[in-house]
Amino acid sequence: MAQRPVTDPVTLIIVGATGDLAQRLLLPALFRLRVDAQIPDRFAVVGFSRRGWSHDDFRAFAREGAARAGEVDEDAWRRFADHLYFVSGDSTKDEDLRALAQALEKIEDSHRTGGNRIVYVASPPSTYEPLLTALGRIGLIRKDGALPWTRVIIEKPFGHDEASARRLNALVDQIIGEAAVFRIDHYLGKETVQNMLVFRFANTVFEPIWNRRYVDHVQISFVEEIGIGSRGRFYEEVGVVRDVVQNHMLQLLAVIAMEPPAVFEAEGFRNEKAKVLRAIPPVRPEHAVRGQYGPGLVRGERVRGYREEEGVDPRSVTPTYAAMRLQVENWRWAGVPFYLRAGKRLARKETEIVIDFRQPPLMMFRGWDMTEMDPNVLVMRTTEDEGISLQIAARIPGHRRQIRTVPLDFSYAEMGIAERPAYEHLLLDAVRGEQTFFTRRDEVELQWAVVDPLLRHWEEHPPRDFPNYAAGSMGPAVADELLERAGRRWRTGPPIREAEPAPGRS
Ligand SMILES: NC(=O)c1ccc[n+]([C@@H]2O[C@H](COP(=O)([O-])OP(=O)(O)OC[C@H]3O[C@@H](n4cnc5c(N)ncnc54)[C@H](OP(=O)(O)O)[C@@H]3O)[C@@H](O)[C@H]2O)c1
Repeated sequence: MAQRPVTDPVTLIIVGATGDLAQRLLLPALFRLRVDAQIPDRFAVVGFSRRGWSHDDFRAFAREGAARAGEVDEDAWRRFADHLYFVSGDSTKDEDLRALAQALEKIEDSHRTGGNRIVYVASPPSTYEPLLTALGRIGLIRKDGALPWTRVIIEKPFGHDEASARRLNALVDQIIGEAAVFRIDHYLGKETVQNMLVFRFANTVFEPIWNRRYVDHVQISFVEEIGIGSRGRFYEEVGVVRDVVQNHMLQLLAVIAMEPPAVFEAEGFRNEKAKVLRAIPPVRPEHAVRGQYGPGLVRGERVRGYREEEGVDPRSVTPTYAAMRLQVENWRWAGVPFYLRAGKRLARKETEIVIDFRQPPLMMFRGWDMTEMDPNVLVMRTTEDEGISLQIAARIPGHRRQIRTVPLDFSYAEMGIAERPAYEHLLLDAVRGEQTFFTRRDEVELQWAVVDPLLRHWEEHPPRDFPNYAAGSMGPAVADELLERAGRRWRTGPPIREAEPAPGRS
């Protein structure tokens, strides 16, 4: 089997190392990569943030994160923990970053990492600009091409709108250079998304029908049961479109709709995604709806409405739900609507891409019972039980003339090989210098251009009916109308046929 190249020695600096992302996802992923010998012996991880922690505090915090993520072998942990360090400081202050630079030299010496560095920016978005500016000013990072190398991983959200994303990109260009920047959209690290290219382009049967002649429409759903938890203040500034539509959902759309690149490498892949994004006109306000959850029942438990959540304005008009129709105006997709919906506190959790195929002529089955039959649908699940399901029509055995929709299923779990979390894939790619599954400058700007006018329109026209859906329902009724106008409906989860009625519509 072809192996990817072994990595250079490296020190990974996590700015924002005491946060949720670091504990829940980054540190457990690094531990697993080390256990699997995917990162070299000559490595170190340096946590950096303001609180005055010791190295041991940081190691205990990391240990807790790893234990929550899975079983931890004590010997393996001790070996890993010897590579973890903590430096306390403010990422927007030059003197603290200088102290970090000094500490780094010692750590780099003792682990013989040769000066190669990855700076992982996992502090709040408001710190990105001051941090990058300061990093450049004090020379903690070297621009692309210089050895030993430096790479910078930047978390989402990348900007607040198109203008701020462009400003941040200009700064990245000046201080880091495009070849050394890794803008994270962790959806690109998911197994199903990484498989999408193989699925589409390494099989014979899908590509010929992957176009406007056979596809009626596409649905991308990003629905969550959870509310905003303790992230109220953050969510108030962001809302659902900036949180998941502008990034994850448009990236998923681009991967579904792209043309095959000539070679599977970073520039080819990103060029093709960028072409799709360029073909999407900005969302028209009449093609979009928004919602905000009120109190309701989730899994039998009474939960608060958004406006009662911690850190949220009691008169907030921040949307926690959005649904919209997009068009990809190119040869392959002309006239095929792409429906996107995303929301918090819904009846179930799932992220899935649904390709709804056109119905073939059925006149030869005149008189048959087809009430339990739908056109072919391909469902790709990217959360929980990641996998793919093709819904096909089959004759029901027996003496009646009846056709029903049945699933052909592929589940990653059944492959018998454990799926790897997205952050493991992406951290390893960054360590190896592979940018394929990271978002390029033009993509991020094009993604903002798709949603920016809608966001402005919504800000200028505040909603009068919030909250307009109950927690535990499937979102506001207007979202259904968006599809019903065109004689379509949202897929309602397994089974493919209309499932339980949505509870608690308001
Ligand atoms: N959590 C997720 O699942 C998730 C998913 C996708 C993207 N993200 C992105 O990842 C980033 C971090 O998210 P998070 O959920 O981990 O946030 P968080 O829990 O609020 O953590 C923020 C971290 O930044 C540190 N920090 C804040 N200001 C700082 C400063 N001036 N200098 C140095 N450190 C500073 C904080 O520590 P101190 O208070 O000790 O300084 C803390 O370690 C955000 O940009 C977020 O949008 C997070």
